[in-house]
Amino acid sequence: MSWRDIRPVRFIMIGVLLLAPTAVLLLSLVLPGLLDPGFALAGFALVTAAVVVVLRMIMADSRTLADYADRVADAGGLVPPPEVRSTSAEVIAGAIARAQQRWLIREQAAGADAAASIAVIDALHDPLMLIDSGRRVVRANSAARSLFGERMVGRELAVSLRNPTLLDAVAGVLAGGASRSVEMVLPVPVERTLQARVKPFRLDTVEGPAVLLTLHDITLLKRSEQMRADFVANASHELRTPLAALIGFIETLRGPARDDAEARDRFLGIMFEQSNRMSRLVNDLLSLSRIEMDEHTPPTGLADLGTIVRTVVTGLELRAAARKVKLKIDGPGGLPPVQGDEDQLAQVFQNLIDNAIKYGKEQTEVTVSLALCEPAPGSAAAALPLLPGRHRAERMLRVSVTDRGEGIARTHLPRLTERFYRVDPARSRALGGTGLGLAIVKHIINRHRGRLTIDSEVGKGSTFAVHLPVATEEVVAAARAAAQ
Ligand SMILES: Nc1ncnc2c1ncn2[C@@H]1O[C@H](COP(=O)(O)OP(=O)(O)OP(=O)(O)O)[C@@H](O)[C@H]1O
Ligand SMILES: [Mg+2]
Repeated sequence: MSWRDIRPVRFIMIGVLLLAPTAVLLLSLVLPGLLDPGFALAGFALVTAAVVVVLRMIMADSRTLADYADRVADAGGLVPPPEVRSTSAEVIAGAIARAQQRWLIREQAAGADAAASIAVIDALHDPLMLIDSGRRVVRANSAARSLFGERMVGRELAVSLRNPTLLDAVAGVLAGGASRSVEMVLPVPVERTLQARVKPFRLDTVEGPAVLLTLHDITLLKRSEQMRADFVANASHELRTPLAALIGFIETLRGPARDDAEARDRFLGIMFEQSNRMSRLVNDLLSLSRIEMDEHTPPTGLADLGTIVRTVVTGLELRAAARKVKLKIDGPGGLPPVQGDEDQLAQVFQNLIDNAIKYGKEQTEVTVSLALCEPAPGSAAAALPLLPGRHRAERMLRVSVTDRGEGIARTHLPRLTERFYRVDPARSRALGGTGLGLAIVKHIINRHRGRLTIDSEVGKGSTFAVHLPVATEEVVAAARAAAQ
């Protein structure tokens, strides 16, 4: 009610009703001559004036209170009570002020509760949406909005998510069905597999049945399931091939070739080669699983890459000579050590140089270059203060192996370090490869907090480069102390 609704006519009527008995009393005294008419008139005027003053005061206070109540209803914050003249109006204003204070405290608590609930839902990593009976998105947390766009709220779910399996599941639950869970693939921006859970939900603010839809990204889980299945299939396939050859030759030697000395020698040679291949495969698999197990434990020793490279190159001279390949080492001496495991790093260069010999061209050169790389200017590592007498932690040693072979097409590069991945499987097998070499290299380099880069040009050759962080002074001192 606004103060304009308090009509003065009502106050005039109240005044008339209050003055009427006074007028009747005075008349009943004047008419029999008991009171002088002049006195009566003066008395009536006095009473009228008093009534008018009181009524005007009540009217003014009522307007002030109505106006105060209006301001309290409209205001967001606290409105101080107005000045009023009558005691009763003062009591009412005080009551309104107290009610307003209590209401504000409750409103603040409810607001804080609602904000906390929204913050919790928004902090969820998984997208969450509330869908009403008309299949419209009523609410969506920030993960859902950033995935499907800010404008998804208020629109039909089908506008943002066109997956028929999911839409069927939502319709089924809205029709009274039990909760369900479906898998769906989101093709863009990068392909992802999501598990959608659809659950019936009731909310006072939403008319009719509703559903709560949550999406959980299971891409990594699916990928690792697939990798495990592929790995078992690949490993068994790799073992089955030489095993089948062995069984075949054993059967032949026990049967038709029993007395054929020349065939026996040839078959035994092949059997020896196949058994070696199986043994290499099993050793590589064991080595890979051991390296994977310690991948999160950094090595504690010191390794001198120059010495390791020279030892590996010497060990491979014979193989290189067989293909008329010349091995060359390039780079300054006295390079700082890296924090690393010498045997594992030797395994890295053994595989890279062996690949360069195997897949490089005959009668060409394979170059192993060693160099110290300063961090790029402006990089986070370059900004690190260089204390006197101390190596900058992120200085890297780069060892690259360059061949002049046929090179590798760009499409293969991202997959080269996968287990059993080969550009030409038949050729790799014929050369005695297991296809595990670069997978082992990658895991060893990861353990050493290093990086492997591959540059290749079809028809020209390839460069496999290993970047390893130079050991800090503390690491050098700790490793020397441990060795004493
Ligand atoms: N220098 C290179 N030039 C051309 N292709 C290469 C080179 N290095 C590796 N590859 C390709 O990458 C594949 C994977 O190499 P990886 O070292 O993992 O296996 P592998 O050499 O075939 O077998 P293993 O190393 O177990 O003996 C190879 O089969 C080959 O196709
Ligand atoms: Mg190899």
